[in-house]
Amino acid sequence: MGKIDEQLLLELLRLPFRDSGERPRFLRIQRAHVSGVSYLNIGDAGIQLLKDLSETGARVKVRTTLNPGFVELSAAGKRSCDPIVYKKQKEIAECFLKLGVLPTFSCTPHFEGNVPRRGEHLAWAESSAVLYSNSVIGAWTNKESGMGALAAAIMGFTPRTGVHVSEGRKARFQVEYTGEVEDEVVAGALGYLVGKRTGDGISIVKSNGLLKKETTAEYLAALGTSGASPMAIIEGVTPGPRRKTRKSPEKAEMVESEVRELLEEYQTNEPPQAILIGCPHAVFTSERRLLDLAERKPKLPVFVFVSRRRKERLTRAGLTRKLRRRGISVVADACIMWCGLRALGYEAVLTNSVKGAHYLRNHMRIDVGLAPMSELAGGLK
Ligand code: F3S
Repeated sequence: MGKIDEQLLLELLRLPFRDSGERPRFLRIQRAHVSGVSYLNIGDAGIQLLKDLSETGARVKVRTTLNPGFVELSAAGKRSCDPIVYKKQKEIAECFLKLGVLPTFSCTPHFEGNVPRRGEHLAWAESSAVLYSNSVIGAWTNKESGMGALAAAIMGFTPRTGVHVSEGRKARFQVEYTGEVEDEVVAGALGYLVGKRTGDGISIVKSNGLLKKETTAEYLAALGTSGASPMAIIEGVTPGPRRKTRKSPEKAEMVESEVRELLEEYQTNEPPQAILIGCPHAVFTSERRLLDLAERKPKLPVFVFVSRRRKERLTRAGLTRKLRRRGISVVADACIMWCGLRALGYEAVLTNSVKGAHYLRNHMRIDVGLAPMSELAGGLK
């Protein structure tokens, strides 16, 4: 077993600053969250890298949790996927376990498993978790790569730059949007457009429709999909100093018709074959809501993506089986980009997540339509 090369990890942490020539100092982190877990994304080369790293005997120094993968790592999961893919995903999980990473397999660590406190410094990968932690909880984290977050977790520190310093948390763009944000899909579409327009710049927006936790989360998740900023300020939600903008913020005007146009792009050409809920993982879809959905006997099979812990709770309460009988499957450990969709041969699906729709279409080549939960719950179209 070789020893971990700490100099190499330091270089990895400094990598984002290579071009600018900046030599940032480091600060201690309290928590980390690692992405780059799915076999779909990292492939065999990623497994080899993780194996090499885990065989050095290195261990994370802070509480570190894990994003979802491509497969549910259970007996049911084994049946729903290609056996080779299942084996590969298991190997990935074993490497992370060796490194001391907690097998939470969730993209919502900020709600369960690794909940940050306001003012804590983190090394968080997974853009939706980064945006929520900075913009709603008031924690401080840059948008790390999966390897960057893992290197920081092993070292226990990260570069003191970006949104780890107060000056880096001021908005460069003032978003002006007068339309209504009536549900989570509109919130996601608006976030997606803002992210596209503002790139890596922090924006500030004011909209009553974004004050509900569910719409806030969808707005931020979609903004992190099209943009590179680690933070987006929502007036009435984001904690912090009174002055949240730079001296003269640039205007980013959004009009309702742009949101409508984006939503019109997301309609399936063929009749949809399934409904997918839980990108980011379903935390707002309460047990009551799932049971309501079951009562309505949805016309299409429904898949709800949740953390491992949540599925265990639902199973203990006898709900997983009850929902399954009504055509609602609860999937743990996996991202919405889940191997089961391939195994089942789905070519067209519906979701209420703009982020999910973007990735399903662009990475899994699945035709996707968007509709809010209130419509999906009716079994739909
Ligand atoms: Fe989570 Fe995958 Fe969506 S990691 S945020 S379910 S794209």
